Amino acid sequence: MFFRKKNPKNEIEIVVEPVEPFNVYGFSDVLHFIKREIGVDLFPKKYIIETRIKVFCEENGFNSFKKLFDELQYNNDIKQKLINLVTVNETYFYRELPQLLEAVEFAKTRESTVNIICAPCATGEEVYTISMLLKEDKNFHNNYEIKGIDINTEAITKAQQGIYTERSLHKLTPELKNRYFIHENNMYKVDQSYFQNVKFMQVNIFENRFGDCGKFDIIFSRNMLIYFDEEFRLNAMKRFHEILKPGGRVYLGHADIVPENNLFDKHGFGSSCYYTKR
Ligand SMILES: C[S@@+](CC[C@H](N)C(=O)[O-])C[C@H]1O[C@@H](n2cnc3c(N)ncnc32)[C@H](O)[C@@H]1O
Repeated sequence: MFFRKKNPKNEIEIVVEPVEPFNVYGFSDVLHFIKREIGVDLFPKKYIIETRIKVFCEENGFNSFKKLFDELQYNNDIKQKLINLVTVNETYFYRELPQLLEAVEFAKTRESTVNIICAPCATGEEVYTISMLLKEDKNFHNNYEIKGIDINTEAITKAQQGIYTERSLHKLTPELKNRYFIHENNMYKVDQSYFQNVKFMQVNIFENRFGDCGKFDIIFSRNMLIYFDEEFRLNAMKRFHEILKPGGRVYLGHADIVPENNLFDKHGFGSSCYYTKR
């Protein structure tokens, strides 16, 4: 820290105050807090994440991890900013396509409106993709609604805006890009007129509010459980069990491993699988 001061001769002097060194005490408490709140287990990556959280502390005026931890107990803005920092929102259109196509086939077998949730949806590509696949399938005649939820507020804002780079769309054909997107200034904006039955909300799957999202025929939860330890992966599956309609299906990502449980049966197809309620 430095400040300007006038000396007795009315000259401006720069006075430098000694900076208190950053105190690393309390780092584990911060990681425990994150895990307890959102399930994300940062302990295996603690050496990588430590520097990022330290920079976060300095930018927000905390000179120790302990001070950040104390603030997290009551300051929801700081809590959300930290969650936004530590969650990985990597996703793209048409990711793990065979599984999505299988879900579309299943959607055709459901009667009345098909309710689908992507928990998590990150920046929305998965939600728009499923909607596009249902629209492109000439044999799908049901109504449908798709909800995308994620803990990260910045990701949800991006999902609602629906503006993407070429990189997010790298799996799409030129025809799909032309039909569903408006191409402007090197960016692709989804044509919202096609996506009236798509909704995004910021929700933590471990909070009570998640249970109020509704009941679903299809739950996609791809590439989130990989960030949880076994206990939280099981807790997440319990949450999905609560919101899955009878006869509905849960689709996870290829790397998402489900601990032994008596809630679901696993069914394989090709190199992929889905889960139904036992
Ligand atoms: C890698 S993205 C997966 C996105 C998409 N499903 C896919 O596979 O392409 C993982 C997302 O999980 C979200 N997430 C982590 N913990 C969460 C929680 N407790 N509740 C809701 N979302 C969470 C993160 O914010 C992140 O956007």
